[in-house]
Amino acid sequence: MTEARLTVNPHFAVGAIRRELFGGFVEHLGRHVYDGIYEPGHPSADAEGFRSDVIELTKELGVSTIRYPGGNFVSGFRWEDSVGPVSERPSRLDLAWHSTESNEVGLHEFHGWLEKVGSDLMMAVNLGTRGTLEALDLLEYSNVRGGTALSDRRVANGRSEPFNVRMWCLGNEMDGPWQLGHRSADDYGKIASQTAKGMRQIDPDIQLVVCGSSSAHMPTFGEWERVVLTHTYDDIDLISCHAYYEERGGDLGSFLASAVDMDGFIDTVVATADHVGAVRGSSKKIDISFDEWNVWYIDRFHAVDKITGIDNWPTAPRLLEDIYSVADAVVFGNLMISLLKHADRVASASLAQLVNVIAPIMTEPGGPAWRQTTFYPFSITSRLARGAALRLELDSPMYATEVYGNVPVVDGVATHDAESRQSALFLVNRSQDEALTLTVDITALGEVAVVETHTLADDDVYAKNTLQHRTRVAPKPNESVAVADGILTVTLPPVSWTAIALA
Ligand code: AHR
Repeated sequence: MTEARLTVNPHFAVGAIRRELFGGFVEHLGRHVYDGIYEPGHPSADAEGFRSDVIELTKELGVSTIRYPGGNFVSGFRWEDSVGPVSERPSRLDLAWHSTESNEVGLHEFHGWLEKVGSDLMMAVNLGTRGTLEALDLLEYSNVRGGTALSDRRVANGRSEPFNVRMWCLGNEMDGPWQLGHRSADDYGKIASQTAKGMRQIDPDIQLVVCGSSSAHMPTFGEWERVVLTHTYDDIDLISCHAYYEERGGDLGSFLASAVDMDGFIDTVVATADHVGAVRGSSKKIDISFDEWNVWYIDRFHAVDKITGIDNWPTAPRLLEDIYSVADAVVFGNLMISLLKHADRVASASLAQLVNVIAPIMTEPGGPAWRQTTFYPFSITSRLARGAALRLELDSPMYATEVYGNVPVVDGVATHDAESRQSALFLVNRSQDEALTLTVDITALGEVAVVETHTLADDDVYAKNTLQHRTRVAPKPNESVAVADGILTVTLPPVSWTAIALA
């Protein structure tokens, strides 16, 4: 058994954890909306056609803001199609996912669902096939109380109060050649700046997110951020990052170290944003909205799922329905650790996505809803991580990876809420064959008791929860945790994620 040591001290605060860090993402894609959150014929459907079993699981997951309606979908979306009497809404081609969008669920219905799950809306505007005017129209429709054509239209459509949407994304992944309306950094920076200025003229208090890179491995990464921020620095609040990870070619060691890539991605974007700020002599800081992150077997999507054909535009097809393993959940939990470690500059994040589509919640039409393995690290971290994120003084053995070189076997972060005096530790053991004993110096926390422990691990690191075996994988209490004389000890099984709450 190997050993590692770390120190937790509330004086090592990285930054306050903002609730927006635990956001989600609902895209009109596959069976996410239709046959996912919305299934009027389902036995658990409420009066509005939303599945109440999915509502309950979403609440348990603990998602704060939810980004909507895409994703790639938004770059072909006409928001006007999704409001007004449902019977009059047009069906449209969704070019991003080669599907048919019925518009049966639109802005009003989705906002109603958000009220049921207790989450806030983060809205994306279409800067792919549309432009500034349509973005301004949508903002007027959403946030202006009344007395204008578009705000009165919202009132006539049944919503007298403004939706009061606080966070807005200026397009989606505009650096990606797959994106409808993909632009150069220069062209996108100009339209994003112009749109942001106009939106602020309507509602100065909104938070605006400009598109950063679709991954840290895009050929334009770094330069994209520099050019886009040079155009938009004074107009926006946040720049986005997107990242998806998957195990490739049986290289589990590198996959388990995916958070190393996320750490570097965040650090590089922060450095680039600060560079642009320095050149401008600005004291303003641009924070990060990590508004798409997850494990996604994207290679499988391209090889198997992709829909084609002029006569083939299905409604709610099964797309991106990845079934997650224990190893996936460990990587996923580690990505959350990375976000928390950067709580000073990652102001907001959105798990992509929520139901059926690369999702922590799965459903079967007319059947059950269940938790994937990734559900657990999210729900537990969202519930326990409060106050400030703490930097750990970590002394860990290293291991060699194909992709990232030598990396620590253990990764982790702590949180501490000064008011309630509650702390939490989130840890991963990336070793594939060895359990690890961790010694944690918690003297600086004073007298503490262990209130909860959870470890996600399994003899079969590829074990999954499926329709047939919906509760095969779940975290278990970690009986090894002990505290004596200011020292906490815990055994972390191979390929595991652990949370420990102290009070
Ligand atoms: O989340 C799935 C897709 O991934 C989103 O639509 C897009 O923004 C990203 O490429």
